[in-house]
Amino acid sequence: MSVPVFADDVEILISMEELKARIAVLGEKITRDYFGEPLTVLLILKGSFMFGADLIRAIDLPLSVDFMGLASYGADTESSGVVRITQDLSNPVKDRHVLIVEDIVDTGLTMKYLLENLGSRKPSSVKICSLLEKPARSSYEIEIDYLGFTIPDKFVVGYGLDHAERYRNLPFVGVLTRDCMERR
Ligand code: IMP
Ligand code: MG
Repeated sequence: MSVPVFADDVEILISMEELKARIAVLGEKITRDYFGEPLTVLLILKGSFMFGADLIRAIDLPLSVDFMGLASYGADTESSGVVRITQDLSNPVKDRHVLIVEDIVDTGLTMKYLLENLGSRKPSSVKICSLLEKPARSSYEIEIDYLGFTIPDKFVVGYGLDHAERYRNLPFVGVLTRDCMERR
């Protein structure tokens, strides 16, 4: 598979085929674990929109989808350290099982904030499905129930993940190459 022209500064880290295969496995596991339960799949915007869209199609259960917008990054590759809700849930999650779908758990700050916030809404349970995890940078202990891939300490883009809002439309997860260090 080749890299689109607009993203000639990106190297493929996880290919489309690898993503597809892993998502099928995650979907089967989630299908087994939530059988017969009221499930809300909560996509964290913006980064998880593409992963979430593929994941829910791999889950063979009746489910609700909801969205929450959270931002901890500005236009930089370093977290600002402050989490903001940019868009809230559209329906209550009280007495429902919530499966958070996130693109990446980096320091864990966003997830820690989200878990605390959701806890006050009295769901039956809250679990996390994250496409990526960067353990080298973790500062908060976050248990990921369904994990796609563990990645090295590199800034990744594509498949929903951005750098300054760019690259979200790449169909794979890639690493920024030559320009990355200049941008940091
Ligand atoms: P955390 O709060 O440090 O765990 O960061 C979580 C959020 O930061 C993720 O939901 C992403 O939106 C963003 N993020 C962290 N690492 C990367 C990366 O390598 N590429 C793109 N976005 C990232
Ligand atoms: Mg995000």
